[in-house]
Amino acid sequence: MQQNLQGQNMEASKSKVQDIKFVEWSRGVNEESYDLSEMTRIIENRFKGKSIKIADIGGGIGTTVNALCSSLDTAYADVIDNSPLALESFISHARTNLIYEDFFDFKAERKYDVVIFRTVLHHFVGQSEKETLALQIKALNKTHSNLVTEGGVVFIIENFYEPAFGSDITGRIIYELTKLKFSSAVFRYLGANTAGEGVRFRSFNSWKRIFEKCGFELGTKITADDWSMSMPIWQRIPFVCKNRHQALVVLQNAAAADSRGEESKGKSKRLEQELHVEACAA
Ligand SMILES: C[S@@+](CC[C@H](N)C(=O)[O-])C[C@H]1O[C@@H](n2cnc3c(N)ncnc32)[C@H](O)[C@@H]1O
Repeated sequence: MQQNLQGQNMEASKSKVQDIKFVEWSRGVNEESYDLSEMTRIIENRFKGKSIKIADIGGGIGTTVNALCSSLDTAYADVIDNSPLALESFISHARTNLIYEDFFDFKAERKYDVVIFRTVLHHFVGQSEKETLALQIKALNKTHSNLVTEGGVVFIIENFYEPAFGSDITGRIIYELTKLKFSSAVFRYLGANTAGEGVRFRSFNSWKRIFEKCGFELGTKITADDWSMSMPIWQRIPFVCKNRHQALVVLQNAAAADSRGEESKGKSKRLEQELHVEACAA
């Protein structure tokens, strides 16, 4: 079901609101957030006052697009989210619109100049590790072929978990533990609000391989503070986590970048630049 809510009477049963945890923290996000100010700067430089169409996948109550459209006069945004809370509490703005639908069912009527996944990709999980990888790849393939314009840009904001050894063991352990149903009450008590459902975080290199497999080229990576210290010791040791940090990663269509002669260096494309910013990522 695709529901365009602009100008409509938004009603959602409170009893349907079971997933408050998904979007409650995003209420505090504003233009000052490191990722939003960087996104605004990149969009301004790239599109220079042209009309800009944005899709925010899993954009929740619309905090991100509300801030972007408030700063960018020529931006128009669709949020695609299947949470009843998004339906109930979507922030009203003349140039934003909620499409209340599962992203995997969403059939875009147009392509977008900017596509955003803000702390969403790790929520695309299946019953097994294999199914989960397939879902995450499916989301990015869909974005590459059907959603983003050729000269467009994709913003990924993710929490990256770097293991003390191995390439991606920390994210895998978190996934296996958070998907367990029988122990979910204990893990929720200990602070894992996704216990019983599962989340699949990854190391930066693990995501990088997936982005490239789906036809994207990595541009800038802007890394927020290392927030490993906020990770309780009972998690850090069993999760063999050396570092966790949040970052904004900018992707573009690799073929389009090649045709413009941008940073075309075969498979091992280097990051254009890596910046560190101070941010409260907790
Ligand atoms: C951690 S919240 C992030 C919300 C928002 N992007 C932000 O940064 O404030 C994850 C969001 O993804 C949405 N989501 C998860 N799976 C989805 C799916 N398959 N289709 C659409 N939205 C989904 C949830 O409803 C939730 O709003």
